[in-house]
Amino acid sequence: MSMIESRMSETDRYAYPHRVLHWLVAAVLLFSLASGLVLGFLGFEGATARFGQSGTDLLYTAHKSLGVAMLALMTLRLITRLLFVVPDHEPPLPAFQRVLSSTVHHLLYLALLAQPLLGWAATASGDFPVQFLHWHLPGVIGVNEALSERLFQWHGWLGWAILGLVALHIAGALFHWLIRRDNVMTRMSLF
Ligand code: HEM
Ligand code: HEM
Repeated sequence: MSMIESRMSETDRYAYPHRVLHWLVAAVLLFSLASGLVLGFLGFEGATARFGQSGTDLLYTAHKSLGVAMLALMTLRLITRLLFVVPDHEPPLPAFQRVLSSTVHHLLYLALLAQPLLGWAATASGDFPVQFLHWHLPGVIGVNEALSERLFQWHGWLGWAILGLVALHIAGALFHWLIRRDNVMTRMSLF
């Protein structure tokens, strides 16, 4: 155990359920972004030419299921974030780092709640099935082709924005972990 860790107690870290959710969200995001980008680059025809009909169906279903899982995880995460105390940084972060990191964190919450809702609404308004594994979820909004196209466009843009935010976030985490070598990583790590 390093010096830093031995000086930390459990109250210096995020609550355990919140830490578990952080890493589940990171894992689900990796696969939902990857599958989304493949769908975005290839499109339905391109995906069918490359993966066949059943492969393409699987890719869409997997992407939608991951997205719906993200909505559930982020809802739980919002609850654990509001329920449990967020530990203060010790020593406090410089003002610039505090403002930058909390801005990125808030934007990530917003984006990761909005993105599945956009995907859901775009899918339903395009008259496509909203799937979670083998279940079909209610479409909620009516069929509207023009709206669907617009929402899928926003879904694509927000995907890139999320990629940018996550890159900034990971750069920040690595900066603390490997360069500053402070306790920021330990606050969120599982072990
Ligand atoms: C956090 C969760 C999600 C992320 C990060 C994500 C990301 C993406 C990205 C980056 C694309 C490519 C867009 C493009 O370039 O055109 C995409 C496409 C797509 N997403 Fe999502 N998505 C999420 C959730 C969902 C959900 C919940 C649904 C539906 C239930 C969904 C349905 C779709 C569909 C059908 C496409 C293909 C659109 C097309 O054919 O152009 N997504 N997603
Ligand atoms: C890829 C998807 C990821 C997302 C969406 C994400 C999101 C977040 C958010 C929103 C927070 C703020 C804490 C909260 O209020 O919940 C946070 C904290 C944190 N994340 Fe991530 N994260 C991701 C991946 C990673 C990765 C890969 C690392 C490590 C390399 C990491 C390291 C951390 C650390 C150390 C904190 C604690 C910051 C603090 O002490 O305030 N995250 N993350």
